[in-house]
Amino acid sequence: MMLAKTAAGSNRLSVLSVASEAVPLIKTGGLGDVAGALPAAVAAHDVAMTTLIPGYPAVMAALGVPATDAKRPGKGAAKGKPRMKLVHQWDALLGEPARLFAATLGAMPLLVLDAPGCFTRGGGPYADPLGRDWADNWRRFAVLGRAAADIAGGAVKDWRFDVLHAHDWQAAMAPAYLRFAPLADVPHVPSVMTIHNMAFQGHYGREIFSRLELPRSAWAIDGVEYHGGVGMLKAGLEAASVITTVSPTYAMEIRSPEFGMGLEGLIVSRGDRVRGIVNGIDTAEWNPAADPALAAPFTVRSLSRRAANKRALEAEFGLEPGDGPLFIVISRLTWQKGMDVLGEVLDHLVGVGGRLALLGAGDPAIEAELRKGAARHPGRVALHIGYDEALAHRMQAGGDAILVPSRFEPCGLTQLYGLAYGCVPVVSRTGGLADTVVDANLAAITADAATGFQFSGVDYQHLAMAITRAVGLYHQPQLWRRIQAAGMRSDFSWGRSGATYAQLYRELVSEAR
Ligand code: ADP
Ligand code: GLC
Repeated sequence: MMLAKTAAGSNRLSVLSVASEAVPLIKTGGLGDVAGALPAAVAAHDVAMTTLIPGYPAVMAALGVPATDAKRPGKGAAKGKPRMKLVHQWDALLGEPARLFAATLGAMPLLVLDAPGCFTRGGGPYADPLGRDWADNWRRFAVLGRAAADIAGGAVKDWRFDVLHAHDWQAAMAPAYLRFAPLADVPHVPSVMTIHNMAFQGHYGREIFSRLELPRSAWAIDGVEYHGGVGMLKAGLEAASVITTVSPTYAMEIRSPEFGMGLEGLIVSRGDRVRGIVNGIDTAEWNPAADPALAAPFTVRSLSRRAANKRALEAEFGLEPGDGPLFIVISRLTWQKGMDVLGEVLDHLVGVGGRLALLGAGDPAIEAELRKGAARHPGRVALHIGYDEALAHRMQAGGDAILVPSRFEPCGLTQLYGLAYGCVPVVSRTGGLADTVVDANLAAITADAATGFQFSGVDYQHLAMAITRAVGLYHQPQLWRRIQAAGMRSDFSWGRSGATYAQLYRELVSEAR
């Protein structure tokens, strides 16, 4: 795809999506899933989305150009891998030499920013191999933002975009550059800034300001200045035409200090320019009827086949078989996710006849507590510390219920995968969890609308009570199957939200005309 220009007379829009991770190339969490799924979701509504991502070594390798061989695009391409085409070069992007490659991965058009000084290094997208954030993250992602603003502004021959869509603080400088330092003589390009998690804001000292190559006027309360330093997410939220976040409830919650984390005033001041659009899931990637990771694929009409997946999962985790439900957790081990409270509730979970298989990584103190719990309950509580995509699929297929006790959750995806796989979600009533799971109260069960369990207040008492409720209903197999079936039949696809994003882009384009 060379020309991303809106054809005259056509209703097709072109959107540049900017993200620091995107499935299937690179993922550390839900942002990767969403950035990877959005292009297909909006394509169904006549929007051509191209995704700009950093050329980390894993991305360059997957696309066929070893990072060290970037001068010779395509030469390193292994058989079957997409070829990258060099489409632009910068001598100095905030001082950094950089190249821009275009590629198409499956049906997904990509632009890859190869700035070796920023992205060619070991470790993860944000942290070194020991898990410490890179000290120059501000510069790495300011470079991404500057590149995105140049591309959207027309710096790359034959590439034009109607809208720029930035995800999280790592891409937030893109709308900020478009607004505060646009290329000369370019028409206004409207922008969308999506908050996937308000807890990560990219807040740095004032000394970086002079290195961002912004005009002095951008150092202002309605610019990039934030509590005496530079706020990168804050800058994007000020500059974007519209702000979205990933569920309607979280869009309301971030108007308060508890969830807004210092940016609530800004959110409130942007009024109806803040929208909540719930995430969907990629139903090609997460389909229990055709999931290559599963021992026994199944559908809502063959739920009994799940038993084979459950046995395989028990064996994999070294869990004893039992009559009670097998709970699962797939999560970052952090305070946000309530994983400290999960540690406290393990004795209760086992006491009421449950078992637990957990996959996760994160905070060492939380991990240590969970390990102690597993040691107290051999054969009943088992952990897999690490990151394993295929195992996550097998767990959703073999677990009876997934626990998501988050203190805040902008959307959450694991409860949606649980719904799709008949693994009943037990969730705290916050953010996207509140919006996507219907609590199994009597009225909802009677109406066949219940899809899981909700509880308010992330503490021992409320989580323990929710677990007890789930165990109780699990022992009424007919009711349990109705809850599973209602979940599997619920709409967790991108259908409606893809249409809403497309509609939003169209509104912005007509407003800009
Ligand atoms: P967040 O992005 O806040 O971590 P989400 O629920 O939106 O939360 O997305 C998490 C994504 O990462 C899901 O796709 C989930 O399956 C995946 N995930 C989280 N931890 C692991 C892990 N240890 N191994 C494999 N996948 C994981
Ligand atoms: C963030 C949020 C999570 C959301 C994901 C994708 O990581 O913590 O709730 O599902 O982004 O939008």
